[in-house]
Amino acid sequence: MQLDIPILSNDTTEDINVLTKNNYRSTNGKNVYIETYGCQMNVNDSEIVAGILQKSGYGITDKIENSDVILLNTCSVRDNAEQKIDKRLQHLRYYKKKKSKLIVGILGCMAERLRGKLIGKQDLVSIVVGPDEYRKMPELLEQAFKGEEGIAVKLSRVETYDDIIPLRTEGVSAWLSITRGCDKFCTYCVVPYTRGRERSKPFSAVLKEVNELWKEGFKELTLLGQNVNSYIDMEAKKDFAKLLDEIAILVPQMRIRYTTSHPYDMTDELIETMAKHKNICNYIHLPVQSGSNRILELMNRHYSVEHYLERIRKIKELIPNVALSTDIISGFPTESEEDHKMTLDLMKEVRYDGAYMFNYSPRSKTKSYMMTDDVPVETKKRRLSEIIDIQNQIASEINKNEIGNIHEVLVEGTSKKNINEWQGRSDTNKVVIFDNSDGKYVMGDLVKCRITKSSSATLFGEVV
Ligand code: SAH
Ligand code: SF4
Ligand code: F3S
Repeated sequence: MQLDIPILSNDTTEDINVLTKNNYRSTNGKNVYIETYGCQMNVNDSEIVAGILQKSGYGITDKIENSDVILLNTCSVRDNAEQKIDKRLQHLRYYKKKKSKLIVGILGCMAERLRGKLIGKQDLVSIVVGPDEYRKMPELLEQAFKGEEGIAVKLSRVETYDDIIPLRTEGVSAWLSITRGCDKFCTYCVVPYTRGRERSKPFSAVLKEVNELWKEGFKELTLLGQNVNSYIDMEAKKDFAKLLDEIAILVPQMRIRYTTSHPYDMTDELIETMAKHKNICNYIHLPVQSGSNRILELMNRHYSVEHYLERIRKIKELIPNVALSTDIISGFPTESEEDHKMTLDLMKEVRYDGAYMFNYSPRSKTKSYMMTDDVPVETKKRRLSEIIDIQNQIASEINKNEIGNIHEVLVEGTSKKNINEWQGRSDTNKVVIFDNSDGKYVMGDLVKCRITKSSSATLFGEVV
């Protein structure tokens, strides 16, 4: 279960992202519409797919009714993420009735997990493509237009799409995946099975892409990976701290973020690098999952509560204004009332600015799937709501203390509630809303705001 919680995490299963605000013209007379579910890595992957398809002549459209191909880039992390796709496919039958030649394809983690089972689903799906097979998309689509079904779901040990130029939606912020896959094998998690083994983009390819993004006008960059801080280029002998250091020097005017980091790989060098560079944002998403050592061990998380808290202490010491967010799973098999209380205690001790909080969802193939899902639904629900209540209370208190502080806000667009207001983010990744009735600023501007009001999720400011 995913809930709407303050700060952006790397998991956005509630958001549906449509590529793209730009409409790219086709040269082969066919238009593709792409919807993205799941984490930011999927968002970046959809941009990669769009890049590949555009190169072979397809147009990219954000108007579903104009499309000849509908692609859903999917997530498998929890059961409800997959249910959402099932529902969406039911809706898509309407478009197929209107246009019988319409091709519907499933990409991403669900494609990898369910493979052939998806073909023919809802009498719609004719292509299924896993995360490491996107280069085959033009070929698969060509066959699909001839009436052939197609599946490509091989995982790769080397694919990083480092020579593909993603077709990014124009804007202020760019995503850049620097690692793919995951080798951590947390016992609850499907990602190692849907994304395969961990691999890193070559160091030189990352630097080249960053430089191009800056030249294209992006003001902010988020480096992505399921375990972004375990990045390693063996040949160049560069780890994540070194990469971050060189990027910060290469584009000193660009804001740099990264997600998601694993507590196990949160090295001193990395924290020191963040502290050293002004353009690396003072924000870390550091999923803890549980406050109980017994549960962390069952989860195979490779750290103890003590190690985690020591890392937090070091981070707060070196980066005094840092904002922290986390992921928490409630109701993991065998979780007792005492384990749950330890999670609440840890939250009170760290005092996160934001959190994504989920009920445990058993996923086949994973190790914990073999364990009995023995926490009753009612208990899970109650524990999760206690976790959410504490988090909301802490976030409100932290945000209240922001009143009077001045933040540099990167303008991202108009506020969803009022077109006379701008919405942007502080260095610490907090949403800041401020007045734009005189139309003085444009997207991408950095504006100094004094905070005048707050809620648990948002800050409101005035320009100073
Ligand atoms: N690589 C990241 C996050 C991966 S998925 C990390 O290790 O932190 C994002 C979040 O989904 C996880 O942090 C976890 O909190 C949650 N999650 C993953 N598998 C889950 C499951 N089976 N049930 C409930 N939540 C899960
Ligand atoms: Fe999943 Fe764990 Fe890897 Fe994160 S680190 S993607 S939770 S296996
Ligand atoms: Fe979901 Fe796959 Fe991302 S399972 S969270 S889309 S890596």
